[in-house]
Amino acid sequence: MNEEDKKKYHDKYLQAKQKGVKFYPDIIYKDLLVTFAIFLLLIGLATFVGVASEPKADPSDSTYVPRPEWYFLFLFEFLKYIPGSLEWVGAAVIPAAAVILLFVWPFIDRNPKRHWTKRKIEIGVMFVIVLGIIALTIMAVVSTPPQVEAAVAGSLTEKILLGQDLYSVNCVECHGDEGAGGSVQGVEGMEGVILKAINTRDEMYTRDDKSLYDITDYGQQDLGMTPFGKGYGGALGPGDIDAIVAFMRYTWDDRSEIPAAVAAAGALPSLAPGQVASYDAQVSTIFKRFCVSCHRSGKKNNNYLMGNYDEVINSGDNAPDIIAGDMTSNMMRMLNREKIDAGNPMPLTKPLKPELVAIIQNWVMNGMPQTAEQAAAITPVGAEGTPQAPAAAVTPTIVVTPTITNTLTGSETPAPTATLPRITVRQTLTPSPTGPTPTGQSPSATPTP
Ligand code: HEC
Ligand code: HEC
Repeated sequence: MNEEDKKKYHDKYLQAKQKGVKFYPDIIYKDLLVTFAIFLLLIGLATFVGVASEPKADPSDSTYVPRPEWYFLFLFEFLKYIPGSLEWVGAAVIPAAAVILLFVWPFIDRNPKRHWTKRKIEIGVMFVIVLGIIALTIMAVVSTPPQVEAAVAGSLTEKILLGQDLYSVNCVECHGDEGAGGSVQGVEGMEGVILKAINTRDEMYTRDDKSLYDITDYGQQDLGMTPFGKGYGGALGPGDIDAIVAFMRYTWDDRSEIPAAVAAAGALPSLAPGQVASYDAQVSTIFKRFCVSCHRSGKKNNNYLMGNYDEVINSGDNAPDIIAGDMTSNMMRMLNREKIDAGNPMPLTKPLKPELVAIIQNWVMNGMPQTAEQAAAITPVGAEGTPQAPAAAVTPTIVVTPTITNTLTGSETPAPTATLPRITVRQTLTPSPTGPTPTGQSPSATPTP
């Protein structure tokens, strides 16, 4: 910059100063306002939107792919092009040099012109750098392998409910649905072994969370409980085991008070008078709590899987095990504690509460609707929620009056009840569970004439 320019700028500066807007307090005040607004915005975002947390760190989990936040991905990608021994240059020296260069740039670049046509080289160089950053970011995103989604429980309520689900799947087969123990049935190698209750004061008062965690993590191998922790060959990560411990503590320890939301969400399903049960709303919860721990792959269960609607209806060595409108299907007879060719009374150890059996019965008699909407569109069949007599005592001929909705066509919109065709089907119940009965792939199945 020559003397003439310098003088020109100095004059301009003096003029502007005369006009009177002072850095302190005028400009600072504006800055403060904006800063405060952004601060409030951040608090609002943190409170109402938040960032989903990841599962608890798990040193034994080799599938976890650590990645920085997106705005640092370019640096991360950049490091890949630097040989390992020079990592410190790429990680510290080059970024630090770049920041320092930006910092001292006003002292190096004394070009007084601000218009871009007069600063082509500088703008060109910066343009290339920004392009490079964008390119590196994209490359990093593309090369990031998909992260295995792990269930993460945020609130205590979510944690307890997750724990309940995990307990149902992993522990019920031996410890029973409420941890009451007793004689183990249908578990290979454990047949008839008597387990003590783990839901008692004795257990809950003497075991702290840490020891419950450890027992679940590495099992009680000498007594027949295999390890569940990933570190010992099991399937559960630290967050999962934490959730199970929270579930046990909050449901079985009479010193801790279960949050109301958990009690409501974890409660066993029930039906209002005249309500039709659906798979999604009630039946799946019952199956999950009382059956899935044995009826999933890898367990002894006659290949009858009960993880979803389709499996419940179609799988099993003696499929169909459950038939719309049929009280003599394998499942209904087993639930009513009959021993039949397909197997023993179900669940093996302890009878299902009559009100739960009644819900399943209600669901079967109303054509086994899958979603709550489909159930709501059906006029109930004898659905007072009263437990009916076991299948054997049912009169041989019963009249089923299902209302066939347009869900048969796969259409999602239920037609108004008044316009629905109403058919009366005479169904003869034969003791044999096999026969040309529909397997009920359609939510509102047609009972056999
Ligand atoms: C294969 C059967 C089996 C499964 C599945 C199983 N356990 Fe166990 N568990 C046992 C046996 C056997 C013992 C030894 C105690 C006994 O004999 O009563 C035991 C003991 C325990 C104890 C300690 C009792 C005490 O104070 O000594 C806890 C707590 C426990 N299990 C929790 C769990 C949890 C949580 C799960 C599910 C993640 C689970 N168990 C799954 C068989 C099993
Ligand atoms: C403790 C493990 C266990 C639990 C819990 C359990 N089952 Fe079973 N289930 C079995 C075994 C084992 C068989 C194979 C037959 C046998 O050994 O009795 C079986 C067979 C069946 C079958 C016959 C499948 C076929 O096609 O042959 C049905 C239906 C069934 N179970 C329904 C249920 C229902 C419904 C529940 C929950 C209310 C339930 N089970 C809970 C272990 C279990």
